[in-house]
Amino acid sequence: MTKGLFVIGVGPGSPVYLTDIAKNAVKKSQYIIGYKYTLNAIEDVIDRNLQKVYEVTMKNQEEMYQQVFKSMSDGEFCLVPFTGDVNFSESEVVDRLLQIFGDENVEIIPGISSIQIASSRSKVPLDKSYIVTFHVTGDIEIKKLELIKAVIDGKSVILLPRPWHTKPEKNFMPSEIAIFLRKNGIDTSKIKVWVFENLTTEKETVFRSNILDLEGKQFSDLSVMVIDQYKRQTYLDFD
Ligand SMILES: C[S@@+](CC[C@H](N)C(=O)[O-])C[C@H]1O[C@@H](n2cnc3c(N)ncnc32)[C@H](O)[C@@H]1O
Repeated sequence: MTKGLFVIGVGPGSPVYLTDIAKNAVKKSQYIIGYKYTLNAIEDVIDRNLQKVYEVTMKNQEEMYQQVFKSMSDGEFCLVPFTGDVNFSESEVVDRLLQIFGDENVEIIPGISSIQIASSRSKVPLDKSYIVTFHVTGDIEIKKLELIKAVIDGKSVILLPRPWHTKPEKNFMPSEIAIFLRKNGIDTSKIKVWVFENLTTEKETVFRSNILDLEGKQFSDLSVMVIDQYKRQTYLDFD
């Protein structure tokens, strides 16, 4: 037996989206490490008398992962919850956990992504869209070029913007995206857009207009943007 790790998707907001398999993994774990937002989503399943729960931030997470890994005994499980689906826009942390625990000791349990919820709300299918996250620390210049191409090609786009409070020049939020597309020759007044904030929470809102109207508008960090160029096509349209 070795030290096991569950990496699970929760939310993206409401605990009603938590799957049974994720709940079982929480119950099996002696250690739980998560950001405040994700711990909230599993609070009802955690037993703080039996489980050691650590709330972390981006700053102290590395120290905590290492500390817990060291203090675990063989046969014990740790669990790290992530917002939405673990497999979307979380790899910077998930890859580090795989390094610490080793691939063979890690079980990834997928969740429901904020992009899936945005797809459901806007009724723009995922498979007919260019899906992209700008919510990364690394360089996004190539993704920005791919975004222009997707929009010019008439595709819909479902994207996570990039909030960066300490370095505003790195922000790529809906307003910056709208300005970027206009400056690259796209007539943004003609393209429909949705911005969903705080999906599946009691604070959920939707902004629906054309891309040009996003310029100068502020949105929460918890936003998903859908550029909607989708033309519905049913099986009746094909021979
Ligand atoms: C690091 S990414 C994680 C994405 C997540 N793994 C997912 O599948 O939704 C964080 C970003 O996801 C988006 N997000 C997560 N939860 C959200 C929610 N409830 N409503 C709107 N956007 C959300 C926001 O764009 C947020 O900045």
